[in-house]
Amino acid sequence: MNRSLVTIADLTREKIEYLLQMAEVFEQHPNRLLLQGRVVATLFFEPSTRTRLSFETAANRLGARVIGFADPKVTSGTKGETLKDTIMMVSNYADVIVMRHHLEGAARYASEIAPVPIINAGDGANQHPSQTMLDLYTIRQTQGTLDNLNIFLVGDLKYGRTVHSLLMAMRHFSPTFHFIAPEELAMPDSYKQYCSQMGIRYVEHQDFDADVIAGADILYMTRVQRERFTDLMEYERVKDRYLLTLPMLEKAKDNMRILHPLPRVNEIAYDIDDDPHAYYFQQARNGLFVRQALITDTLGITLEQVKNDSTIIS
Ligand code: CP
Repeated sequence: MNRSLVTIADLTREKIEYLLQMAEVFEQHPNRLLLQGRVVATLFFEPSTRTRLSFETAANRLGARVIGFADPKVTSGTKGETLKDTIMMVSNYADVIVMRHHLEGAARYASEIAPVPIINAGDGANQHPSQTMLDLYTIRQTQGTLDNLNIFLVGDLKYGRTVHSLLMAMRHFSPTFHFIAPEELAMPDSYKQYCSQMGIRYVEHQDFDADVIAGADILYMTRVQRERFTDLMEYERVKDRYLLTLPMLEKAKDNMRILHPLPRVNEIAYDIDDDPHAYYFQQARNGLFVRQALITDTLGITLEQVKNDSTIIS
């Protein structure tokens, strides 16, 4: 059985809820020796702060050892070694591979050739399933449910892999999506067709103001993905189009929460950080517990085993 996590589309509602339950158990007690003797590899062919460090922290807090790289320039890829050979080599050393790569489909390819499970930590503009799992965890934590929510996606909906993954995951939970993006960065037609096929309601907006935000349960801000543009003039034209400022929250629901996968560049004014609607730093913290659940699950350890685990150390 291939236990890899390549795309969120592979997960049923039951499996998502199972993993969220496991993450809750880890949030209660993140420090254990459950994975003592295991080795987790983190192969980051693209830059990262949160994803890599939270996966590595997740593994370390469960007693596993971590190997890997944060910069492919230090690997034999610079001498011409292929992705296939790199994956085959690391599979000799590690029990699970967490991989971020700029090529869409790289994680799928790795999962088909590797003898150990692959966790996709982001492949190009395609998918970021572990981010989506922590987004779902955070949405449920703040709203008390994942069902029937109004979720507003703002910013770069063309290249933002986190919004693509979130949209697909929410197909199980009857959401209404609101897409707010410049025309150049609109949600791609393929994802709108996906919504139609899956019966997901969506509304498109050009305006981004207090009246629009008033309808949101979740306001999911995103960064314009500079690294995906081939024309940097186009990036300059759109990069500052949607900036969330404090006065724009004056009609927001009390329980509305602002999420952002981070890093933030110029999408959320800094004085919003102290507003009770802001939840993006807690969201990033949740990545630790969710990634503990993902590593544990890909290694074949069950929720029951985690609940009965006697290796808790604090
Ligand atoms: N959210 C996210 O993927 O952040 P990093 O690029 O810092 O990992």
